Amino acid sequence: MIARAKRLDQIPPYLFGEIAALKRKAIAEGRDLIDLGIGDPDQPTPGSIIDALAEAAHNPETHRYDETNAGWTPFLDAVATFCKNRFGVDIDPQTEAMLLIGSKEGLSHLAWAYIDPGDISLVPDPAYTVYKVNTLMAGGEVYTMPMFEDNGFLPDFKKIPEAVAQKAKLLWLNYPNNPTGAIAPLSFYEEAVAFAKKYNLLIVNDAAYSEVYYDDYRPNSILEVPGAKEVSIELHSLSKSFNMTGWRIGFAVGSAEAIATLNKLKSNLDSKQFPAVSLAAAHALLHGDNKKTLELYTRRRDILCNGLRELGWDVKTPKATLYVWARVPEGHTAMTFSRLLLEEAGVLVIPGVGYGEYGEGYVRMSLTVMGDKNGERLQEAVERIAALHLFGK
Ligand SMILES: Cc1ncc(COP(=O)(O)O)c(C=O)c1O
Repeated sequence: MIARAKRLDQIPPYLFGEIAALKRKAIAEGRDLIDLGIGDPDQPTPGSIIDALAEAAHNPETHRYDETNAGWTPFLDAVATFCKNRFGVDIDPQTEAMLLIGSKEGLSHLAWAYIDPGDISLVPDPAYTVYKVNTLMAGGEVYTMPMFEDNGFLPDFKKIPEAVAQKAKLLWLNYPNNPTGAIAPLSFYEEAVAFAKKYNLLIVNDAAYSEVYYDDYRPNSILEVPGAKEVSIELHSLSKSFNMTGWRIGFAVGSAEAIATLNKLKSNLDSKQFPAVSLAAAHALLHGDNKKTLELYTRRRDILCNGLRELGWDVKTPKATLYVWARVPEGHTAMTFSRLLLEEAGVLVIPGVGYGEYGEGYVRMSLTVMGDKNGERLQEAVERIAALHLFGK
């Protein structure tokens, strides 16, 4: 056997394995599972975006390698227009924006572009696992920033020891947040930018959920903070914004220096995306409308959160993201409670501990439910949980 690279041993154990095995078993037994696990839009990509792809795919120019610096001009121009219209942020499309093959790709490669062995990343916990895993694979060290409910799941920069802050290179943030559904006020971003300037850090702000919002709330961009561009790169994704997870398209905006650094690495790793996909994404950014999907998520969110609260489960209603993050009842761990719901109610939720040690005691429920037309599957999930009489009602 040829030994694999040692860096792969840095990948922490896959904690969703047990739930995945129970899911397979339930499906094999023919049980009707309500899967609140994966955060992948169940609704199709809007038709006008598919039409834009079809039209672009008929242009033979799109069939060749993308030999531009950072993406086709119509795409980068659309990115800049989107940032201006949505956040009031000015982006130079040629130096402060670049195409990504989905935001996961950009996030992973930022760690590889910046982290040398021994370098420190400041990583929130619980969090999307990509920030930590890629820091570790690149030989870096992770300093964990715990996110607590009583601080709105925002990291407390004052708790980071001076020596750690001095040595750290990257500060990872993600709002609206997966898995907690937390949001960041602009004042938090102001604090983060001041902290990054003081300690010469690059902020990587993962804004994958910036367009999944409810009611009157609209998430901010960190780039709205004056001077943020000097120390921040923000990653956006078409995946959740326009139901395009399979298309693999996103973008980075912000510090021209960080964009050039990431691009230097990427130009030696990949050859960007099928340009027709980027032209369809440009159409989505300029004309896309995901209002109907957001209305459906809102309905599902309200059925789930109100329904569970009526049972006596203290569940908070998120203002953004696809996720409801809730504390498990006394006497349970995230894993025992997830197993109970799966085995006794046929409802699949994700144990929070899969997102880090500070996710222990919580479960994540996603609002993307295959086969749900108008919230009826969420209603059914509430009724099945009610039948277990777990919360005293
Ligand atoms: C917080 C967060 N960031 C980034 C991503 C990656 O999204 P994509 O690579 O599809 O743009 C995800 C996907 O679930 C996510 O939850």
